[in-house]
Amino acid sequence: MMDPALELLCSALSEYPGQSLLVADEQLDSTLLLSLKTMENLSLLTNRYDVYQTALENNIRCTFNDMNIGELEQAFDLIAYRVSKEKAIVHHIINQAPRHLTAKGNLLICGYKNEGIKTYITKAEHYFGCKADVSKGERQLKLAEFSLHKLGDPLDDRNYDETVCIGEQRNLELFSKPGQFGWNKIDKGSELLIDAFAEHVQQTQPPGTVMDLGCGYGYLSVMAWALGSKQIVATDNNAAAVDSCQTNFDRHGINGEVIADDCAAGIHHQYDVVLCNPPFHKGFDTETDLTEKFIRSARHHLKNDGVAFVVVNQFIPVEAVAPAYFKCVEIVYRDKSFKVFKLSS
Ligand SMILES: C[S@@+](CC[C@H](N)C(=O)[O-])C[C@H]1O[C@@H](n2cnc3c(N)ncnc32)[C@H](O)[C@@H]1O
Repeated sequence: MMDPALELLCSALSEYPGQSLLVADEQLDSTLLLSLKTMENLSLLTNRYDVYQTALENNIRCTFNDMNIGELEQAFDLIAYRVSKEKAIVHHIINQAPRHLTAKGNLLICGYKNEGIKTYITKAEHYFGCKADVSKGERQLKLAEFSLHKLGDPLDDRNYDETVCIGEQRNLELFSKPGQFGWNKIDKGSELLIDAFAEHVQQTQPPGTVMDLGCGYGYLSVMAWALGSKQIVATDNNAAAVDSCQTNFDRHGINGEVIADDCAAGIHHQYDVVLCNPPFHKGFDTETDLTEKFIRSARHHLKNDGVAFVVVNQFIPVEAVAPAYFKCVEIVYRDKSFKVFKLSS
């Protein structure tokens, strides 16, 4: 789905001479991405693996990491950024900008009022020591340009780069960091999924191989390991998730691998069990197609006699989608917020 904020930003970007950097997350869809092909002096930094893959396929210079501009080892005349959903990422990117701009370089940020753009502009004005040049678009959209005058105090990015212990379950500590889904809490739905999986393990035995599809910081992997799973492959599209999940694998000596990928499209193995708490948001929009993409991938990565456990919010229609891929679609737990499905062939 086209994002008018990002479109406005890209159209402003195309008018700048010099070396420019577009910092983009999941808001950047492939149509807009392809329109950037003609900008020779453009580099792209993204924390989304699908965006990275599409950029490379189209010969657009692109780096995939957890929003670390320093890794590009270059100064830019312009850094352009459409604000993300999570405040810590926005602050982290604004904080880095002055270090990676040329002497006369500018930062350009864009977003809507309900995304907090007014506050971001005020904070960035203090940090850059300048008054922003602001232009307005439809539906209270704002595009603001900053040039560095006198560097002030950085914005609070919640120690963006630090991985911290956020709690403990089944005697194992959980490590996470900002920049990803519910980074500092244990998701209720994921906990319910693990309860259902634990019951399954009790009735059968711990599985040999598990895939954690859309792993986030790796809560499901750590719990599957605590429950005796022998080998786990965890995968996510988001660089922050992959980094913190890897920390959990290292800390607990989990036998397996953490792989950056778009819904495991590049992983061609089948597993005894697939665990998945799929996303239902992409950026600021809800995408129902995402559910089907994850259910299809769960089937594709499951052995014929394997079992998938999937948790979703009540309003996500897994029962309508799953029968196209699984013979047996069973709701093993439901309350007023969540449904946990056990899917098998
Ligand atoms: C609801 S969260 C669940 C995270 C984790 N499994 C848990 O239980 O705490 C969904 C996860 O899916 C990831 N995700 C979103 N789109 C993806 C894609 N195309 N491919 C792989 N993972 C994706 C998100 O980054 C996020 O970590």
